[in-house]
Amino acid sequence: MRTSAVEWMRQIYTNGFKGKMISIPADFDSLEKAARERMSEKGFAYVAGGAGAEQTMMNNRRALDEVRILPRMLKDVSQRDLSIKLFDQQLPAPILLAPIGVLDLAIKKGDLHLARAASEFGLPMIFSNQASMPMETCANEMGDSPRWFQLYWSKSDKLVQSFLQRAENCGCSALVVTLDTTMLGWRPRDLNLGYLPFLYAKGLGQYLSDPVFQKLVEERMEHEDLPPSGGVTLQALVSLIRLSSKYPGSSFWQKFKSKKGLYGVRTFTDTYVRPSLNWEDIKRLKEYTKLPIILKGILHPDDALRAIDVGVDGIIVSNHGGRQVDGSIAAFEALPNVAEAIKGQLPILMDSGIRSGADIFKALAMGADAACIGRPYVYALALGGEAGVKALLQHFLSELELTMGLSGCRSIQEINSEMIKNK
Ligand SMILES: Cc1cc2nc3c(=O)[nH]c(=O)nc-3n(C[C@H](O)[C@H](O)[C@H](O)COP(=O)(O)O)c2cc1C
Repeated sequence: MRTSAVEWMRQIYTNGFKGKMISIPADFDSLEKAARERMSEKGFAYVAGGAGAEQTMMNNRRALDEVRILPRMLKDVSQRDLSIKLFDQQLPAPILLAPIGVLDLAIKKGDLHLARAASEFGLPMIFSNQASMPMETCANEMGDSPRWFQLYWSKSDKLVQSFLQRAENCGCSALVVTLDTTMLGWRPRDLNLGYLPFLYAKGLGQYLSDPVFQKLVEERMEHEDLPPSGGVTLQALVSLIRLSSKYPGSSFWQKFKSKKGLYGVRTFTDTYVRPSLNWEDIKRLKEYTKLPIILKGILHPDDALRAIDVGVDGIIVSNHGGRQVDGSIAAFEALPNVAEAIKGQLPILMDSGIRSGADIFKALAMGADAACIGRPYVYALALGGEAGVKALLQHFLSELELTMGLSGCRSIQEINSEMIKNK
């Protein structure tokens, strides 16, 4: 349950008066700085980094910064209602938690911390295909709170079907298909450190727990010898021990000797994404699932129109937080054109660069029905786990509520393009 903005600020100021400061900074720059000090160098680089020279990340921010809110006065804003209806579900606010993989880089059992925090507020958590923990483990902690599943379309359709079946079984109410990652982007921060978490079996929670994936690994072990490693280093040995301990089932020594962990990672790297993904695949997805389908990564209005043609249920305007194509259009810049093309026929969500409640207000004014928070919650996890994310969500909700009220809006429905002025 959220605390009202006024009450939340009262608590913060009263605590401050007693000498107790907030542990989750109320602005993004301080939050990121504090998280950087807490996280490992490689973990922080993986989360904070973007593609190439990180121009897209900068564009995401610039686009949001360049748009101005134009507040209206004397509208009696004593009641402020943040709730919305999305895909037939009543939500307490137009905020979702974007799918983010490898949350273990922020804190051990990061997915679980996030699931608990999200369910405290009834805000949807989108389980990442690259989560560190299986979706069922998180779902078990969430009661009736909404959860969605995000899919990276693997080269194995059987694995895709298995993931979707599991998502339905554990109560996910929507499926997000990420379109912008048919290959991993060029990410200099990770390349310079030679670090990809998946090679250490991090972020493989959905795979290692999946019966179809396990079968793929067994088959591989029967039919394929691993290529010679070319000289075993201490680092490689440590990695192999870690991999073996991460793999489920049988004894550690058995897994170590059979190199099961290595086979698992190899199976993952070979099947992870499908560069051939196309609109025909999306059409047949309806045969695989009953869940509403939401396409994530739409930036061009023509792709948005195509999404309507193939009969999906929603889209997320996103450039993956600038992690895929450097020099790309900002998601927020793409939003009004996409909204104009869609003309209200599908719900539109947006992410990439959302750093505050005021940013969410701008996204809603520009045509989004809801927005997803990404990197900020990873930093909150690193700083305070479940409690950290709860504080962060409370910050976002409070700022959105205040921005709304101080701009003359009593409900989310009253936020529209007239509330915005371009520079
Ligand atoms: C560390 C990290 C991991 C991510 N993993 C996924 C993922 O597994 N699936 C996905 O669809 N998007 C993933 N994303 C993209 C987010 O869902 C979202 O689009 C992005 O974080 C928005 O940008 P922002 O965090 O800068 O606001 C990831 C982003 C980050 C930063």
